Amino acid sequence: MSKKLIAFYSRADENYVSGTLKYLDVGNTEVAAGIIKDITDADIFKIEQVQPYDKSYNKCIAQAQADQKRDARPELKAYPESIDDYNIIYLGFPNYWSTMPMAVFTFLEHFDFSSKVIKPFCTHEGSGLGRSERDIKKLCPNADVKKGIAIYGSSVLRSKKDIEKWIEED
Ligand SMILES: Cc1cc2nc3c(=O)[nH]c(=O)nc-3n(C[C@H](O)[C@H](O)[C@H](O)COP(=O)(O)O)c2cc1C
Repeated sequence: MSKKLIAFYSRADENYVSGTLKYLDVGNTEVAAGIIKDITDADIFKIEQVQPYDKSYNKCIAQAQADQKRDARPELKAYPESIDDYNIIYLGFPNYWSTMPMAVFTFLEHFDFSSKVIKPFCTHEGSGLGRSERDIKKLCPNADVKKGIAIYGSSVLRSKKDIEKWIEED
């Protein structure tokens, strides 16, 4: 039996949804991670920064952009003790300027993903997966990075069928 882990980054608080600023109690990627959990019963881990980005959307944008520009590796609150037992990792993140938030880079550099299957899932507002799959391959050169799924943040509650189909793909 293959053991599965859902590792995801997600930010609640103020965000743009279909062109307007809204306050989200649960981030879009976290909703998608919950759907994957319901389907697969995988273990689940939330990637969290020691210093989270601001609750204000505009401040968050400035902070996240600064981190991306300087190729930062934000410190994480915690890590799973080990990923040795997992064969499949569902890796979730919001699209931040065509790639993943820098905290996901921190997470991927922390472990050796050799011979693991990584299935990326991303929520976005128009840019899809961007270059995230390529970036994951660069960070985890010996992992088997499968085709990712891109879900519109505003449609995440209606995405279960698409997610089910994607999980069944090899
Ligand atoms: C800092 C920041 C940068 C973003 N950059 C993009 C982008 O370049 N392209 C895009 O389609 N969406 C972008 N978005 C929108 C998010 O990807 C989208 O709202 C996502 O569903 C948020 O997921 P979350 O609620 O799990 O954090 C950005 C959002 C933030 C906060």
